[in-house]
Formats: sequence, C-alpha cells, structure tokens
Amino acid sequence: MRLYVNIDHVATVRQARLTDEPDPVRAAVLAELGGADGITVHLREDRRHIQDRDLQLLMETARTGVNLEVASEDEVVGIACDLRPMQVTLVPERREEVTTEGGLNLEAEGPRRSVTRALQRLQDAGIRVSLFVDPTEEGVHRSAELGAEAVELHTGEYANAVGAEVRGAQLTRLLTAARQGEEAGLAVHAGHGLTYENVTPVAALPIIEELNIGHSIVSRAVLVGIEAAVREMRRIMADASRRVADPGRWLPPIGF
Ligand code: PXP
Repeated sequence: MRLYVNIDHVATVRQARLTDEPDPVRAAVLAELGGADGITVHLREDRRHIQDRDLQLLMETARTGVNLEVASEDEVVGIACDLRPMQVTLVPERREEVTTEGGLNLEAEGPRRSVTRALQRLQDAGIRVSLFVDPTEEGVHRSAELGAEAVELHTGEYANAVGAEVRGAQLTRLLTAARQGEEAGLAVHAGHGLTYENVTPVAALPIIEELNIGHSIVSRAVLVGIEAAVREMRRIMADASRRVADPGRWLPPIGF
C-alpha cells in the first residue's frame, strides 16, 4: 500500500504569517526521505495554503509522484493540465469549509457535468484521474461509468466514528465500497482524517492501494520536532552570548 503524504498544512503554518517558512517543498523532500511514495497537495481556489509557486517548485523537485487535488473548476483544472502531475484527484470544494467535507456529488446533474468535463480535459492531457467519493455503491459505480482510473474513498466518517460498533460499521462500508471499486476495475485509494491511532484497520484492507494522509503527519512532525528546534535556538543564543563581548558591533551603522 502506497503512502501519499499531504503537505498542505505545512503551508497553512507559513500562510499564518505570510512569510517563507516553513516551506512545504522542503517538507516534501523530507517526507520522501522518510519513505513517502508520493506527495499530495490541494490547490484550493482560495489559495488558503498551497500557492501556485509551491506547486510549480514541487513539480520540479519531487522525486516521487505528485497527486494534485483540485475542484472541477476551469482555472485549477487548466493549471493541472499545464503542469501534468502524475495524478489528479478531483474533490468537491466549498469556500466556507474548514476542510473537504464530503465526497463528490455524482448524482446531481450539475456537479456531475462539471466533474465529467474536468475529467475529460485531464485525461486528454494524459493525466491519471482519481475521484474522491463517499464509500457508497453509487459513488463507486458513477466513477467507473465516468471513466476515472481510480476512486479515493472518503474515510472521514470512519475517522469520526465513536465506539467499536459504529467504527466497525464504517469499516465494513469502506471494505464493501473497496470491493465494488475493484470489481468495477478501479484502483482504490482512501483518505481523510486518518491518524496514527485509527489507520491500522484501514491499512489492513488489502484492496486499497494508496492512503492519503496529511493533518496527522504534519501534527506529529511538530511534536516530534519541537525539542530539537528549541535546542537549536538555545545553542545559537548561547553561542552569541559567549562570542559577542561587544554587542554594539552587531548594530547597524548610523544611517543604515
Ligand atoms: N484526501 C483528500 C481528497 C483530501 O481532500 C484530504 C485533505 O486535504 C486528505 C485526503 C487528507 O486528509 P487529512 O489531512 O485529514 O489526512
């Protein structure tokens, strides 16, 4: 099973200050060194985290595959067609949402028409397309009907389920949808809300080829990295107080 690491929230921290750190592209390099099979980014229409430049640089530097998540909108689909990542995952997007809340609605005619058009443009550009859907028979069958190469099953309801029974029922839902996807000839991926605590039962489902995990990995990285980061700052401060007998020499000249 492949692990695609979603680095959006590295950019979320950077955008909180509109500065240049932490750099999601550097995070991608480190994620690859840690064993990621690929890197996922979501270029949202409101550009709340990943920026166009990040995506451009990621395409130039990633040694693994890039999975680009976009809405079925002309502007972002056009960017995907120009950059030609290894895979595009079409996702629903609402400006007011905190994160992608549900799978694509492939039942209503309007949204289905937008997805069909986006899928066609992407496939014409030679890009493999995955559709992010709820783990339902309709979601999987519509995806196969539309000609997608893969489906990504939304694991959010599984992740939010409280209690062994409810969680077990959500896992069964995922397994059933995964089987239907396999029977329909689709590659089956899964993701959203997966954490170090809840990933094991999903990672044990053999039909699923790929997991997309972001928030939990970025959260863990902050915690496992903070001790080293503080030590490094302490060391710089200690070196400075030892070396600089005359702090005045670090001040800029008058008129600078
Ligand atoms: N898959 C899709 C389609 C997503 O939109 C997201 C969130 O951007 C993820 C997976 C990753 O979810 P999380 O950050 O909760 O791991």
